[in-house]
Amino acid sequence: MLGLFKSPRISIDLGTVNTLIYFNNKLALDEPSVVAVRDTPGSREKTVIAVGKEAKLMLGRTPGSIEAIRPMKDGVIADFSITKNMLQHFIKQVLHSGFFTPSPYVLICVPYGATQVERRAIKESAVEAGAKDVFLIDEPIAAALGAGMDISQSSGCMVIDIGGGTSEIAIMSLNGVVYADSLRVAGDAFNEEIVKLVRAKHKIIIGENTAEKIKEEIGSAFKTSTVKQRTYVGRGIASGLPEKFIMTNIQVLEALTIPLNALISAIRVALEKTPPELSSDIAENGVMLTGGGALLSGLDLLIKDKTNLDVHVAENPLGCVARGGSIALDLINKQHMAFLSAE
Ligand SMILES: Nc1ncnc2c1ncn2[C@@H]1O[C@H](COP(=O)(O)OP(=O)(O)OP(=O)(O)O)[C@@H](O)[C@H]1O
Ligand SMILES: [Mg+2]
Repeated sequence: MLGLFKSPRISIDLGTVNTLIYFNNKLALDEPSVVAVRDTPGSREKTVIAVGKEAKLMLGRTPGSIEAIRPMKDGVIADFSITKNMLQHFIKQVLHSGFFTPSPYVLICVPYGATQVERRAIKESAVEAGAKDVFLIDEPIAAALGAGMDISQSSGCMVIDIGGGTSEIAIMSLNGVVYADSLRVAGDAFNEEIVKLVRAKHKIIIGENTAEKIKEEIGSAFKTSTVKQRTYVGRGIASGLPEKFIMTNIQVLEALTIPLNALISAIRVALEKTPPELSSDIAENGVMLTGGGALLSGLDLLIKDKTNLDVHVAENPLGCVARGGSIALDLINKQHMAFLSAE
């Protein structure tokens, strides 16, 4: 364990939408989890041609022979060999930014619901990328640490991490998870609902990137009297040509009703299943929102309205998990970190 202080330490949030890496406690990489591949003549294996930002630009824009893939889906690995490739590419990118570096200790945050097989697969990828030792940490624990919460106390705390693929709801105390639920309703599902609404209401087809832009620019999870509207462009279903349309925050709210209701129901179930002592702690401390979805305008107000709890949005919600992993690596020597598994 002593070597942990000499070797480089890397904490990775391998997310469905974004991968973030902290290297020796500093943010060293923030890239979309996207890989562009091309068929390899005479082989079933694909050749990787771009990773991260460059590959994201290709999403929905590739010619026949090239494909831009998001290898993680719903918070888990959908394409194993591409995920491995992406992870190795990112780890190398971080390590290359320094001179010769000894093998790093790597900590990877995994969704609470990840299976043993998925956990082993993630570990193997990091070992193949040159990691000396690999630790795994459950995402809600990392999210809480990264949001600055003290989870070592017996007082209960609640975190809701709304990512791209999954929303994880967790109640923790004494460095452990007392209750957790992971639902496959998060940023990606919000985007899909916006695509559907634009198609139904405006008779226009838009891609994932435009839907995301709409959500970020005029998105809304709670009724307000302020009207926000903007013009976007998609392809008219009837004409087949580019067409402009006006989207409002009220339409976005309408589109998001179903996934937001699912999220609220899951939060309510979590509160019902929480032991009463911890419930009263949560009533006192409130809930912390992390993950990119926490930036959806009005989401905090909606959760407050439906649960009566105080809701806090973490500072830099997109960075909480990777940052929390980095904090956990620092704690390894100081405390008995039951939440880290080296298995
Ligand atoms: N301003 C914003 N308003 C609404 N949503 C946003 C905003 N900024 C980012 N997002 C959403 O946050 C999501 C990405 O968040 P995050 O990086 O936490 O996910 P992830 O960790 O990659 O996914 P997961 O945890 O499910 O594996 C995307 O769906 C993105 O659209
Ligand atoms: Mg995440």
